[in-house]
Amino acid sequence: MSETDKEDVYVLADDSRAPVFMAEGITKVYKMGEIEVHALRGVDLQLYEGEFVVLLGPSGSGKSTLLNILGGLDVPTAGTVRYRDHDLSHADEKDLTEYRRHHVGFIFQFYNLIPSLTARENVALVTEIADDPMTPEEALKLVDLGDRLDHFPSQLSGGQQQRVAVARAVAKRPEVLLCDEPTGALDIHTGVKVLEALARVNQELRTTTAVITHNAAIAAMADRVIHIFDGRIARIDTNQGKKSPNELEW
Ligand SMILES: Nc1ncnc2c1ncn2[C@@H]1O[C@H](COP(=O)(O)OP(=O)(O)OP(=O)(O)O)[C@@H](O)[C@H]1O
Ligand SMILES: [Mg+2]
Repeated sequence: MSETDKEDVYVLADDSRAPVFMAEGITKVYKMGEIEVHALRGVDLQLYEGEFVVLLGPSGSGKSTLLNILGGLDVPTAGTVRYRDHDLSHADEKDLTEYRRHHVGFIFQFYNLIPSLTARENVALVTEIADDPMTPEEALKLVDLGDRLDHFPSQLSGGQQQRVAVARAVAKRPEVLLCDEPTGALDIHTGVKVLEALARVNQELRTTTAVITHNAAIAAMADRVIHIFDGRIARIDTNQGKKSPNELEW
């Protein structure tokens, strides 16, 4: 093995252990006039490349606040958050916009598709401004909607609409996919289809994926499960052998 080969191997091995996200002591205080809400009270968290984590916790415990900070939609009141070489805690609006545009895909509970555009056109909105996107057709095939390219949102079921939203989020090949209750509005069957799409994207693109859910059954498909309670991480479980979405017991 030549010196350069050795170096490559070393760098690879090192990268696989290095976290992509590193949060230290993050707090978030929302001030509403006289009232202060402590949404996060000191969160330390590392997320690794390609891992699939599920965030569980009661309503109001700070899950969305944490996800929004990881996604550059919000900044912490104190503490530091880094994504690779991006300091997200001290970034200005322009840096955060760049970070989101190039690295992050978001999926929310309500799909936010544009009703007057077809599935293909909804996805194309993103692929037109990305650096190295898939085609809308590729992205829609990845979520098993290759046969619904020209359907409008109103002609699709809730689960199918959410899969269009998944295709839209992943078409730019984001390194990070953040999902806030992606199956919250769906029944079991359609929820599983959406989770299958997320699992496939995680596997095929090695996208670091974080999913907030109120459904504890979904935790079984994660590499790690992060339990949030009252603005803090109460516990992190590592799954030995994760389940595929169709094996989940709801
Ligand atoms: N923009 C805001 N302004 C003021 N308070 C906020 C804001 N966003 C969140 N909060 C408060 O911060 C706390 C954490 O909210 P967050 O949305 O992170 O909870 P959550 O765990 O996602 O809850 P849920 O499961 O209900 O979505 C709550 O007490 C909430 O009221
Ligand atoms: Mg929330």
